[in-house]
Amino acid sequence: MEYQTSQSSAAEVEASCIVVTIDTAGKLSDAAQQLDAASQHFLQQRFESKDIKGKLAETLLLPAVNGVAAQRVLLVGRGDSDKPLKRGQAIKLLQAIASATSKFSGSIALAIEELANDEIDAHWFAEQSAIAFGREAYQYTTTKPQPEGEQPTQPDTLVWVGSDTTASLKKGDAVAQGLNYARELGNLPGNICTPTYLAEQALALASDEKLTTDILDEEQLAEMGAGAFVSVSKASTEPGKIIVMHYKGASDDAPVHMILGKGITFDTGGISLKPGAKMDEMKYDMCGAASVLGTMKSLLELRPNVNVIGMITAAENMPGGNASKPGDVVTSLSGKTIEILNTDAEGRLVLCDALTYGIDKFKPASVVDIATLTGACMAALGEVNSGIFTTDESMAEQLQTAATYSHDKVWRLPLEDDYQELLDSNFADMANIGGPLAGATTAACFLSRFTEGTPWAHIDIAGTGWTGGAKKGASGRPVPLLVNYLLNKA
Ligand code: BES
Ligand code: MN
Ligand code: ZN
Repeated sequence: MEYQTSQSSAAEVEASCIVVTIDTAGKLSDAAQQLDAASQHFLQQRFESKDIKGKLAETLLLPAVNGVAAQRVLLVGRGDSDKPLKRGQAIKLLQAIASATSKFSGSIALAIEELANDEIDAHWFAEQSAIAFGREAYQYTTTKPQPEGEQPTQPDTLVWVGSDTTASLKKGDAVAQGLNYARELGNLPGNICTPTYLAEQALALASDEKLTTDILDEEQLAEMGAGAFVSVSKASTEPGKIIVMHYKGASDDAPVHMILGKGITFDTGGISLKPGAKMDEMKYDMCGAASVLGTMKSLLELRPNVNVIGMITAAENMPGGNASKPGDVVTSLSGKTIEILNTDAEGRLVLCDALTYGIDKFKPASVVDIATLTGACMAALGEVNSGIFTTDESMAEQLQTAATYSHDKVWRLPLEDDYQELLDSNFADMANIGGPLAGATTAACFLSRFTEGTPWAHIDIAGTGWTGGAKKGASGRPVPLLVNYLLNKA
């Protein structure tokens, strides 16, 4: 998509469609009034005749309005204009615009800058507009191709009418590219998106000179002593891998920040087999990994001055004759022993060895891991908030700031020593599960034991990594959060 800004009056902007707003009292925005004046009050009449009530995100398409240069006008409700729009409402409105104009070819002009308020400015609106249009343009077709000749047309240019918001439009585009890439990876079935496939994706990103990719294969990991990782991966015929991408945007002596994604390309539960219903959704158990790849893609678009390690711990969790059994004790890369009481608590096992490896090798200034880790987190927070866990107040604040700005929301859950004893084992340094209570927190407690001394936060995206129901599919979250978090480090 191309991005332009225009300072012309709304009635004079040449576009395939121009978008203006109206409130629930029938008050047209200044831009809408320009169109109204040029068209003998055609827009105002639409409200009088109740074609549109001005409710938030309500849309009315008006083809060929006399006196208006654009070929169509999309009138959009902005709700009660006495109340400044909140981020969530603004995104809902922008998504409605993107959806209503998604089939037009040519350019869409957005004359909506008046929606900006004290909290969310024109630059934020422009960025979110590009994200909304980018998101709208994605459709999953890899294993369900569109019939020949039915490829839908799409707008090719977004024009922001008002301030110069070019940089924000470009940033939004970069975020959307990373987001859609993560969605695509999440949507791919487990028989295509294997650990090897994830490694190929990471290698493909390394065609850019700013990024290098290294792969540790399962044999190397076994030799190194990554017993926790191998205990998960060994029963699968798909070889597991730890994938290390290095984005070098700053000098070699500048600090490096690490993001680590859980990449279980299918989670059967192993010998602690999951029930059959909805097991297909366990193809999404690599959404943490997908968000790391998506974030790296966005960084390559934006090229910020920051050093980032993007790690993925990729494996398939399968039952088998050589699978780990409940009660097995394994030695992690850190040397700590783990009693595997439930083979379905595999995410923390692959993550702990990757944390040990990454922290030891790269001495990162901060680490964030992203994982579809627990059903308990999904039960607590649903599809709205990702759970964040950290004992580092500064990390909590930085993630919260990025989450608020990007509206990729997070909610902090406890990570306190009082929960640690739930992981006690009679046969190893720790058990891999903590019993029925506080499941999201005990999972975080487990990971915390492999991050001591490094500022670290854990994001549980079990509920937010994908959308259930009729719109079933990967969400691409938390790419917007991670991109903003890392840009704030630049
Ligand atoms: N991948 C699952 C977590 C999950 C469940 C994500 C539902 C999304 C939706 C994870 O590997 C898992 O199985 N966790 C177990 C842990 C339990 C055995 C302590 C869970 O949450 O039930
Ligand atoms: Mn599991
Ligand atoms: Zn899992």
